[in-house]
Amino acid sequence: MTTVEARLILGDCAKELKHLADDSIDLIFTSPPYADSRANSYGGIKPDQYVEWFLPISQELYRVLKPSGTFILNIKEKVVNGERHTYVIELILAMRKQGWLWTEEFIWHKKNAYPGKWPNRFRDAWERLLQFNKARKFRMFQEAVMVPMGDWAERRLRRLSQTDRIRDNSRVGSGFGKRVANWIGRQKAYPTNVLHLATETKNRNHSAVFPDDLPEWFIRLFTQEGDWVLDPFMGSGTTVRVAQRMGRNAIGIEILPEYYQLAKAIIPPLAHLPARQLSLLEETEPYESVEPE
Ligand SMILES: C[S@@+](CC[C@H](N)C(=O)[O-])C[C@H]1O[C@@H](n2cnc3c(N)ncnc32)[C@H](O)[C@@H]1O
Repeated sequence: MTTVEARLILGDCAKELKHLADDSIDLIFTSPPYADSRANSYGGIKPDQYVEWFLPISQELYRVLKPSGTFILNIKEKVVNGERHTYVIELILAMRKQGWLWTEEFIWHKKNAYPGKWPNRFRDAWERLLQFNKARKFRMFQEAVMVPMGDWAERRLRRLSQTDRIRDNSRVGSGFGKRVANWIGRQKAYPTNVLHLATETKNRNHSAVFPDDLPEWFIRLFTQEGDWVLDPFMGSGTTVRVAQRMGRNAIGIEILPEYYQLAKAIIPPLAHLPARQLSLLEETEPYESVEPE
């Protein structure tokens, strides 16, 4: 039996983060208010002031994250005066100056985005998940997010060509090579950096709830049981609730009392969970990169 803690804090994360210890968090996963959006529910930050507003917070996040930890920032730039605002791009550049490494960018493809009509653009059906780190070497448990090989493997592996049986080095000299035959008999492959997930449709009395699968995927990829997960813009508590279910300790900070109460009502301060999940102990094998046709 493992016991994990969930600390819910009511307040402004710019201030509350100062009470957290240096180098104490394994994963920060959060979705801050988007510039100017949802002004009716919790006020918005003007797109032109977004970077200035966020930098003192990211400075504190840098301090509390362990050198081996990861920060995932879910964000999407809005359209202002007919063009995409550049505050996300400016934020990335400013955070790099703060010392962050912009290690990767994942795309959350919203599978169930409903159609719409705009004169000069199509429906927005994706959001960014920016990955930042303090060091080039960080903890990552790739085997924990492997996906079934599915149809591609069956189709592609049925008829192997001569090159498929040997290592096929890239013709453009990129150094990338693949040996498709390596995948015979494999049930699982490593995923891509595009996540296809439906948006949350169950209304949990918060206007910007993300689906459980989103934090879950990153918690599996970047943490192990007993680690610490932080969401400084907790909202209804999705990240903290999911982290707790997965046997991770978690801290959530929320500025609005009604959302804080919402999270408090469903997340106990301590949870007792059965011992380690077997899926995390899966056997791993060396593999080579493979590109679907
Ligand atoms: C996009 S929502 C997060 C929703 C959350 N991911 C969920 O699944 O419910 C952002 C949240 O940040 C809160 N917030 C805004 N400014 C904050 C601040 N300075 N400190 C802490 N929370 C803040 C808002 O009240 C809102 O609930």
